[in-house]
Amino acid sequence: MATLLQTHSRTKMNGNFRGSDVGQEVTVFGWVQAYRHHGGVMFIDLRDRTGFVQLRCETDRPIVHAIAMTVRPEWVIAARGTMISRGSNINSKIPTGEVEIEVHQLEILSEALTPPFEIKDGVNANEDLRLQYRYLDLRRPELNRNFALRSQITQMTRQYFTAHDFLELETPILTKSTPEGARDYLVPSRVHPGQFYALPQSPQQFKQLFMMAGMDRYMQICRCFRDEDLRADRQPEFTQLDLEMSFVSREQLWELLEGYAAQVWQQVLGVQVQLPIQRMSYQHAMDKYGCDKPDLRFDMPLFDATELLRGRTEFRPFVSAFEIRGMIKVLPIPDGSTFTRKDLDTLFPQEAAQHGAKGVAWARIGEDGSWSGTVAKSLSDELKAELAAAMKVGPGALLLWVADKPSTANAACARLRLVAGDRLGLLGKTNWAFLWVTDFPMFEYDDEEKRWVAMHHPFTSPRLDHMDKLDTDPGSVLAQAYDLVVNGIELGGGSIRIHNSEVQAKVFSLLGLSDEDIRSKFGFFVDALKYGTPPHGGIALGVDRMLMLLAGAESLRDVIAFPKTSRATCLMTESPSAVDDKQLRELGIALAKP
Ligand code: AMO
Repeated sequence: MATLLQTHSRTKMNGNFRGSDVGQEVTVFGWVQAYRHHGGVMFIDLRDRTGFVQLRCETDRPIVHAIAMTVRPEWVIAARGTMISRGSNINSKIPTGEVEIEVHQLEILSEALTPPFEIKDGVNANEDLRLQYRYLDLRRPELNRNFALRSQITQMTRQYFTAHDFLELETPILTKSTPEGARDYLVPSRVHPGQFYALPQSPQQFKQLFMMAGMDRYMQICRCFRDEDLRADRQPEFTQLDLEMSFVSREQLWELLEGYAAQVWQQVLGVQVQLPIQRMSYQHAMDKYGCDKPDLRFDMPLFDATELLRGRTEFRPFVSAFEIRGMIKVLPIPDGSTFTRKDLDTLFPQEAAQHGAKGVAWARIGEDGSWSGTVAKSLSDELKAELAAAMKVGPGALLLWVADKPSTANAACARLRLVAGDRLGLLGKTNWAFLWVTDFPMFEYDDEEKRWVAMHHPFTSPRLDHMDKLDTDPGSVLAQAYDLVVNGIELGGGSIRIHNSEVQAKVFSLLGLSDEDIRSKFGFFVDALKYGTPPHGGIALGVDRMLMLLAGAESLRDVIAFPKTSRATCLMTESPSAVDDKQLRELGIALAKP
């Protein structure tokens, strides 16, 4: 006998039936979400990625009823029947709640083992189990929705940028190392034993080569690979929206990106992004918020108390900070009453310790203006008054102090600001704070390696008015680099590039590369710069991070279909995995025997 799949096509997907479909003969396919007997009738909720519709299998159709009695969760079935109204049993909580299908033909297409966890939102299964059975996890509506959103954004992105004359172009995956600051994933060459390709950390050099090739505007939604320590917002394999433009200023590029972000937030969330997006220099961000990606959903700026305290206190941690030419940074919380002694003794020090801080001192300002807390006794009344005035705080305030080398004091206070902001309910998920951070330093000094390293990447152009400082004072050179920050997350980063081969060679050599290194690593690139390079610039946005923000997800794993764990493994395919000796021999790789 012919099956339903042969004789009928699907009327529509299960979540899309409404009252207006009543009376129609319909064919549906899907997974059994749930079933229940009720007064001789068997009800089945039939799910697909759009939702579910209720099947009604009556005893007066004995074959249908008998088949319905055998189904179990996650079996795949086909049904044909008449769409009817649920009458007085309407369920207004679900979109298809007005209707049900009175089934007159039912077929089982696939049986299913009992899944290791229930296929529903808010499932209480540990994440490792969900990742091992990712194909089941992906059936759950909340994940399903994230991937429908992902697809929508991809389409929107292509439309937006092609409408602005970008060409969508591809770049190689088997390539040569691109310096983005992480370790490379290497691929051994069979044809050239002992030699390796690197997977791209980004298509940086290729997109610049496209500009040299006259492509004018390039876009790609591309995969990047970085072997680095993983966190909730970092995966070893992630997707960038990668862009490059010729003959463009950073302001023009920002405007184009702002239009894109505004369109995405409008279409996906119905949120109107305030344009133009706020801009802030790196220096200002560090001074005021202790980090280069401040969350501006709330203000609560930090205060640098170093100069006010110099020579005016015996408080041991502060004195130690002066000895190492450190900094005393303060987080003033105007109303600190929510924070308990336990927070001060445990929560805050623990959070600060994650950024290397040895402790967090504190002071509370009482109703009468008097100070209590660990620093109170070591400061004169006059100094307290000066500090309170400078920080613009009064009775009720709580002051958290970190004295350490500047990078630690800043990072720890930035963390405390977020922890406090969260506890005070200031990180609303429906608030959006967009920010361009600009004017990053070109280089930072790596104390371990005793050399300058590029703060973005070595193709970033110095500010034109800082070019002559490259020779005299590289540490003070600012770059034409910018990051796009949303709610404290770095969504994207880019720059205006160097388009002059001599400047490029100078930057490489400042980074400690010998002529020989430059030739072997970037020879083709420096050569290419000599054949008529247009001024150009670009940016890359983290697509996964953007989705995480838009979907309100806690981790990138919720928006990447087949992600890696924090130990860079795939629990489903069990990769990475050992390979045959034969394969290794072919690649000229000999593993040391354990
Ligand atoms: P950058 O290294 O800043 O710039 O990367 C751009 C954006 O990519 C995202 N991102 C990541 N997302 C998930 N997991 C990761 N491991 C990860 N690393 C980065 C972030 C980041 O802002 N070639 C330059 C761009 C340019 O200059 O045009 C680059 O790759 O959202």
